[in-house]
Amino acid sequence: MKKPLKRSLQILLALTAAIACFLLYVQFNYNPEYDAPATGIRHSKDSAVIARGQYLVMGPGHCWNCHAADGETNLQTGTVTGLSGGLAFKLPFGTLYSPNITPDSATGIGARSDEMLARAIRFSVKHDNTAMIPFMTYNGMSDEDITAVISYLRSLEPIKNVVEETELNLLGKIVKRFVIKPVGLDSIAPHVMERDTTPEYGRYLAASVGNCVGCHTNRDKNTGEFVGEKFAGGYQMRAKSGTFTTPNLTPDPETGAITHYSVGQFIAKFRAGAVYPETPMPWKSFQTLNDNDLKALFYYFKSMKPVKNPTVRFVAKTEK
Ligand code: HEC
Ligand code: HEC
Repeated sequence: MKKPLKRSLQILLALTAAIACFLLYVQFNYNPEYDAPATGIRHSKDSAVIARGQYLVMGPGHCWNCHAADGETNLQTGTVTGLSGGLAFKLPFGTLYSPNITPDSATGIGARSDEMLARAIRFSVKHDNTAMIPFMTYNGMSDEDITAVISYLRSLEPIKNVVEETELNLLGKIVKRFVIKPVGLDSIAPHVMERDTTPEYGRYLAASVGNCVGCHTNRDKNTGEFVGEKFAGGYQMRAKSGTFTTPNLTPDPETGAITHYSVGQFIAKFRAGAVYPETPMPWKSFQTLNDNDLKALFYYFKSMKPVKNPTVRFVAKTEK
């Protein structure tokens, strides 16, 4: 064999071996465990705490939009069939299923500790200490509100429902190994939040409870990282009938969606609910927000720096 050919063959072999080792490594180590600190949060049987939890789960926290089993329809019709999980999220790197979060001990959270539930909400770490694919954005939720949420979950009727295991393809395993990490391990979440109508409480609702920021900010489709100014809209979501782009919620005089609303008009908009039948915005959940929380959100958006960012909220698919 000629020398250069032999050398390229050697390089190719070495490369193949390296790739094979890497794939084997990923196959066996894609789901590492993490240490997340204890939160000290414990559930309560106090009826006022449970009622607060119900409000958060059904309303601003919109947990049932993902953890109820009735598929895509629950967003639009608002049928609430219980938090028994099983909704499939098809992603380029695999299919995820939302878990059953009713207190059934075999198939739900019945046998899980309060600490496991609290750490999932606060740090995006699952009961088995592995990191969660970041669908949930409650890392800044107060101790008081996490207590309320898990107290409400514990008070529910158990529903027996076996949910399929999440399936990750090779890309998914690589992402899970190298990209997905616990969230907020170094940040300090508030113990309690004063529930007034200040922009500060609005910011809390928008960023740590309602995930307004996750949809109303432009993000990289692959990594989920924010690439636009916060709350300035521009994130695209496809539906069967067309493409939605989130409106700009900053008070820009030309391109802000709510700049010219009064607080009363803003509240009325939420009471009225969805205009587009397939909108991904969880209007059904947000319809149950109380006036106090809607005012806080409104004053928060009004207090922001205006950002010019024109967006077209819906473009219908054209027949080809
Ligand atoms: C946008 C969809 C979505 C919303 C909203 C949502 N979840 Fe989840 N949740 C998921 C998915 C998907 C998983 C599984 C993630 C994974 O396996 O990596 C999950 C996992 C969990 C887990 C972890 C279970 C475990 O294995 O330890 C708990 C607990 C949970 N959710 C509770 C809640 C609560 C409480 C709320 C509301 C405050 C909520 N979720 C809102 C989609 C959602
Ligand atoms: C899952 C994604 C998603 C989340 C979460 C979300 N939105 Fe939206 N929102 C949208 C989309 C898409 C639209 C445009 C379609 C429509 O109007 O339904 C929209 C529209 C709106 C509008 C309508 C503006 C107008 O002029 O009619 C307001 C106001 C709004 N969102 C505020 C909020 C607030 C406040 C929150 C958090 C409490 C929030 N959104 C959370 C996706 C989302």
